Amino acid sequence: MSKLLKKITIIKPDDWHVHLRDNEILKKISQYTGKFYKRAIIMPNLDQPITNCLKSMSYRRRILNSMKPNTTFKPLMICYLTKKTSPEELKQGFAKKIFVGAKLYPKCSTTNSKNGIKHIKEIYHLLKIMENIKMPLLIHGEETDPNIDIYDREAKFIENTLIPLRKHFPELKIILEHVTTEEAISYIKESNSSYLAGTITPHHLMLNRNNMFSNGIQPYLYCLPLLKRKKHQIALRNAISSGSKHFFLGSDSAPHFHQNKINNFGCAGIFNAPSSLLCYVSIFEEINALKYFQSFCSENGPNFYNMPINKETITLVKKPHKILKKINIGNNVIIPFLAGKKLDWSIES
Ligand code: NCD
Ligand code: ZN
Repeated sequence: MSKLLKKITIIKPDDWHVHLRDNEILKKISQYTGKFYKRAIIMPNLDQPITNCLKSMSYRRRILNSMKPNTTFKPLMICYLTKKTSPEELKQGFAKKIFVGAKLYPKCSTTNSKNGIKHIKEIYHLLKIMENIKMPLLIHGEETDPNIDIYDREAKFIENTLIPLRKHFPELKIILEHVTTEEAISYIKESNSSYLAGTITPHHLMLNRNNMFSNGIQPYLYCLPLLKRKKHQIALRNAISSGSKHFFLGSDSAPHFHQNKINNFGCAGIFNAPSSLLCYVSIFEEINALKYFQSFCSENGPNFYNMPINKETITLVKKPHKILKKINIGNNVIIPFLAGKKLDWSIES
């Protein structure tokens, strides 16, 4: 008797938070995002951040040029906010659909955030405009005060920055990116607001901070926000298995060259694009939540961003998939999340 292959077909997902980088890295890695996702929010934190419409249009073109010729993939571009951002640029960019939102990086919170925002009040005038024109604000939600313990920076950000911000701009649409703590989950759930949502990465669902220090320090599990305690990992899993509409897929795939990961000052970021969707499906299966897999991957995001739900579908099959070990780029290599490991799910060819 032939064993039935377990399959799942869902509306083609979107990745609401991905770093595609530029130049030779972009050319080698964008295909992975294009294979699994119909649309993706492209993070603007390049070495020269995407701070205006011109830079964004030209970056968007480079992304499309890096994809397979007949791609139907749609990059969704984001404006990197600085205290010098021109209000006109934001208004025009959003009206002309060059930007779907703008990103707040607290200054020096993560990769290429030195042009970010020191005091949120520096951009209150921009946030007022965004609230009026209904332009979503994407937030890297961590305090940067070195006196705050790094494991508490997300919770403190909610308390010190996000709550006052939302009081001031109650109708500003906010996405708290890559949430990692039970505090963030509870805050979003309890707010139960059409103005607040969160994205969740596969690695924060799969792992906790013990994994980063098992058998020696594991630089490839270093990302920001850091992996947290197990109780937080469980809170993230409970959030997705509850089917809450306030959470959706954002892989935070963030490649760095090996030599920059393994360094005295190693870069933060996990490159999961080759496996992110396969990781998510494994997690949803493990926690018995497959019935909410499609809404997390393909519905909650567009509903929040007020975009149409995709028409295409994708089929995943329960068949082992080996994750590639590395990607060569000139004399450098990029090593993916779970390199060389096997996952239970693959994409139907
Ligand atoms: C991201 C990167 O490298 O651009 N790194 C990361 O650890 N997630 C930036 C970010 O999203 O914080
Ligand atoms: Zn990111």
